[in-house]
Amino acid sequence: MKLFDVYPLNNITIERAEGSYVWDASGSRYLDLYGGHAVISIGHTHPHWVRRIEEQLHRIAFYSNSVKIPLQQQLADKLGEVSGKSDYQLFLCNSGAEANENALKLASFHTGRRKIVAFSKAFHGRTSLAVAATDNPAIVAPVNETGNIVFLPYNDEAALADWFAAHGAETAAVIIEAIQGVGGITVATDAFLQTIRPLCTKHGALLIADEVQCGYGRSGRFFCLDTAGVDADIYSMAKGMGNGFPVGGILIAPHITPKHGMLGTTFGGNQLACAAALAVLEVMEQEQLMQAADETGNWLMSELRTLPQLENVRGKGLMIGFDLPPQLKTLRSTLLTQYRIFTGEAKPAVVRLLPALNLPREVAADFLQSLRAAIAQLEASQTIPN
Ligand SMILES: Cc1ncc(COP(=O)(O)O)c(C=O)c1O
Repeated sequence: MKLFDVYPLNNITIERAEGSYVWDASGSRYLDLYGGHAVISIGHTHPHWVRRIEEQLHRIAFYSNSVKIPLQQQLADKLGEVSGKSDYQLFLCNSGAEANENALKLASFHTGRRKIVAFSKAFHGRTSLAVAATDNPAIVAPVNETGNIVFLPYNDEAALADWFAAHGAETAAVIIEAIQGVGGITVATDAFLQTIRPLCTKHGALLIADEVQCGYGRSGRFFCLDTAGVDADIYSMAKGMGNGFPVGGILIAPHITPKHGMLGTTFGGNQLACAAALAVLEVMEQEQLMQAADETGNWLMSELRTLPQLENVRGKGLMIGFDLPPQLKTLRSTLLTQYRIFTGEAKPAVVRLLPALNLPREVAADFLQSLRAAIAQLEASQTIPN
C-alpha cells in the first residue's frame, strides 16, 4: 500500500532524539530549532516524561470518558497552577484543530450566534470550522466554505470596531493567534489585543485565544495573551502540551456553563495523554521553562538583530522569526544540509525558530556561529569575480 502523498518531505529519517538534538539513520546529529512544528517543549525524550509515560503504560493506557479518570483532575489542577488560570475549566481532546473546533463550537452554543471573526493570514487547523477560519483558500474544501466566518486585517483596531458596530449582535467569537505562526511570526500589538477584549465583552461575544503554537510557555508567559495583560474566554492548546504525545485541550472561563453531551471525544483525556501532559507541566515548573524561554529568547533575538542581513527579527520568547533577503533565500536548506540545523519556514521568505524551551544558551550560541558562517558562505558564492 502507498502512503497518501500529501507532505513535501526532507530526505532525512530521524531515528533518535535527545534534548535539542536529533540523529538520522546514519548517526549524524542535527540541532533541532523547529521541534516538529513547535511541538517539542521540554526537549526530546526528556527522562521525566519518558518515565511518567512508561509507568502509566504499565498500569492503564486508555479508557474512555465513560468512567472517572482522576488523572484528568490532576492535570486540570496542575494546569491551573502553572497557567495561573485555576478558576477556568478544562476540556481535553487530541490536537490543535480539534481544540479550535471545540472552542468555536462552544462559543456558538454559548452565545446562540453564528458569526466568527478571524484574521488575515490566520491558521487554526484543518477540520471543518477550524479550516474555515483559516485564511488559506488552498486548504479549504468546498464543503468547508461558510458565510459565517469573516476575516479582518490583523492589528487593525478600527476595522474590528467597525465590524462590531455593524454586526456585534450576531458575533459569537473572535479567534486570534497572539503571534501568528504559520502566517509568518506576526506579533499582535498589545493595543490590538487590549481592544478586542472590551469589544467582545460589550457585545456578548467570546474571545478565543488560539495558543496552539504561541502558548504553553513559548512566549515566556504561559499564554501569549498574558504578555498583553488580556484574559480570553477560551484558550486552545496542543503542540507543546504533550511534548510529542498527541494531546490538546481548551481552557474555558468560569462564566461558560457546561451541559452533558455538549462536547465529547473518544480518545481525549485518556490516561496516557494525561500522564504525558502532567510530565510536561512538572518539568516546566521544575526547570522554570517560561523564564528560560523569556531569557534565552530575548538574548537570541538581540544577537540575531546584530546580523544586518536578517530583516525584521521579531517574536516573543522562543517563538522567533526573521525575513530573508533574496540573496539568502536558500539559507534554510543550507543550514539543514550543510550545518545540520532544522529551522521552520513561512512563505514567502520567513525563517521560524521554535526550539525546545530549555535550549541551552551555549547551543543557541553554536547556532549563531553556524548561521553567520552559512550567511557568509551564501554571500561569497554570489560574489561576481572581477
Ligand atoms: C496556531 C495553530 N492553531 C492550530 C493548529 C492546528 O494544530 P494541529 O495540527 O495539531 O491540528 C496549528 C498547527 O500548526 C497552529 O499553528
